[in-house]
Amino acid sequence: MINVAIDGPAGAGKSTISRAAADKLGFIYVDTGALYRSVGVYALRNGINTKSGEQLKKALPDIKVELVFKDGVQHVYLNGEDVSEEIRTPKASMAASDVSAVPEVRSFLFDLQRDIAVKNNCIMDGRDIGTVVLPNAECKIFLTASPECRAQRRYKELIEKGENVKYEDVLNDVNERDYNDSHRKIAPLKPSEESVIADTSKLSLDESIALIVKIIKEHM
Ligand code: DC
Repeated sequence: MINVAIDGPAGAGKSTISRAAADKLGFIYVDTGALYRSVGVYALRNGINTKSGEQLKKALPDIKVELVFKDGVQHVYLNGEDVSEEIRTPKASMAASDVSAVPEVRSFLFDLQRDIAVKNNCIMDGRDIGTVVLPNAECKIFLTASPECRAQRRYKELIEKGENVKYEDVLNDVNERDYNDSHRKIAPLKPSEESVIADTSKLSLDESIALIVKIIKEHM
């Protein structure tokens, strides 16, 4: 199987670009952030402190997260319920960032990610795919863009969805999540040594997709 690892900070366009590249190559696209988001949503729903490793550890046996691919589109199930929409709110984003710093949560989600990669040609995106989850991936890409550029894109996305948000708040969220994701002790966000760095700040979406497909083809 051919495995492509795409890591990078929030809002770099990883999911949109990875999904489009996977389509062009006939691979499945696996969004691992959805797994952390689902655990975050479980915590929010059940009054669990998203920063408490102790509370989360206790809750893990009650949590079942599954990824199901319908016509190539990923759906995430939390204890049998499709939560693919609910995991996208700003609250769920922050909860995901919190719970992802807990080692037990990371190992809880590890096998699920590995299983999919063993069985499928896939592009998997996240923060630690090239470094931890798929260290032997055929191709590793670190996809990034400036914080302002990422905040602007996410702001536009949320406004289009009808969310009532301010640009400054989105930028603060981006900076806070970058800080959390890159300073945590376990699996911090960083390019692996073999990663190709792709900065999309100055590229259009189509240019970004073309660049990623080109990099992947060069590694196949
Ligand atoms: O990519 P995303 O915004 O959906 O990710 C949500 C949070 O989950 C993000 O703050 C970092 C965390 N995450 C992670 O730690 N490891 C991954 N492989 C994917 C996401």
